[in-house]
Amino acid sequence: MQVVILTGASDGIGAELARQLAARHGAGVALVLAARSADKLEQVAADCRAAGATVRVQPTDVGVQADCRRLIDAAIQAFGRIDALINNAGMSGHALLEDVADLGWYEDLMRINLWGAVWCTHAALPHLKSSRGRLVAVSSLAGIVALPGRTAYSTTKFAMNGFFEALRIELAPHGVTVTVAYPGVVATGIRLRGYDAAGHPAGKSGLDERGAMPVEVCARLILDGLQARRREVVMTAQGKFSRWLKLLAPGLVDRLALKALKADVRPH
Ligand SMILES: NC(=O)c1ccc[n+]([C@@H]2O[C@H](COP(=O)([O-])OP(=O)(O)OC[C@H]3O[C@@H](n4cnc5c(N)ncnc54)[C@H](OP(=O)(O)O)[C@@H]3O)[C@@H](O)[C@H]2O)c1
Repeated sequence: MQVVILTGASDGIGAELARQLAARHGAGVALVLAARSADKLEQVAADCRAAGATVRVQPTDVGVQADCRRLIDAAIQAFGRIDALINNAGMSGHALLEDVADLGWYEDLMRINLWGAVWCTHAALPHLKSSRGRLVAVSSLAGIVALPGRTAYSTTKFAMNGFFEALRIELAPHGVTVTVAYPGVVATGIRLRGYDAAGHPAGKSGLDERGAMPVEVCARLILDGLQARRREVVMTAQGKFSRWLKLLAPGLVDRLALKALKADVRPH
């Protein structure tokens, strides 16, 4: 039975990843589901158990290093091995830097999006080496092409890429693979829950959400990448194209990035 740890499993992409892993592998998978909301994790766990998976719920704040260690310890105590760690927990933030008075939430975002993944990965490393396992980092297209209003969020995702790209090379001799996923705009509540300039939940999205990718499609693409041990999963044709365009015409990419924002949240 393969053992998969999934952070940010209480909602959005993480919850869908858990359900699809259970549907794909049934009794062949043990899932360790982590996030802060225990009640929502239990609901996701019930769906996964109904599909035949063994599930352990581990309430975790990935912004706290001791919680990350406890998560990995709990997985080992329960199942004795770790085959995959999916670092998916994350939050969003949207504000122009000039509108931010207190940068405290920039640090919080870094602790959740970057350090949470670093702490979980560090604690899981010996176990992943033993199993010649798989690491997944859920980054973002905003970690390839920086977006205005995203000086906090894009920074966390660029940093995440640097960490996992370096680690990929270190782990290759041990047979551990690193898959970095770059979703575009996916239909979840992330932007509503994300920080506004004052560090409160934004309650609205600053992006044009038309054409957002269904969460089911995003989760399927990530799991296909995990299964095939792909080095990266860049979602949407626009995402793949912008990566190349950035090399050839970076100024044009800046203008396109600006267009992704709704008019009322553009730089003034
Ligand atoms: N949706 C998109 O358009 C999109 C695009 C690109 C990349 N992504 C990335 O995809 C990942 C998942 O996003 P999503 O859209 O599924 O967001 P979501 O619907 O808001 O879900 C976020 C998940 O992360 C968990 N989480 C947040 N803070 C946490 C913390 N401190 N400790 C532990 N868990 C925490 C949340 O659970 P609790 O609140 O219960 O802790 C929830 O389960 C994120 O890394 C995000 O940056 C999303």
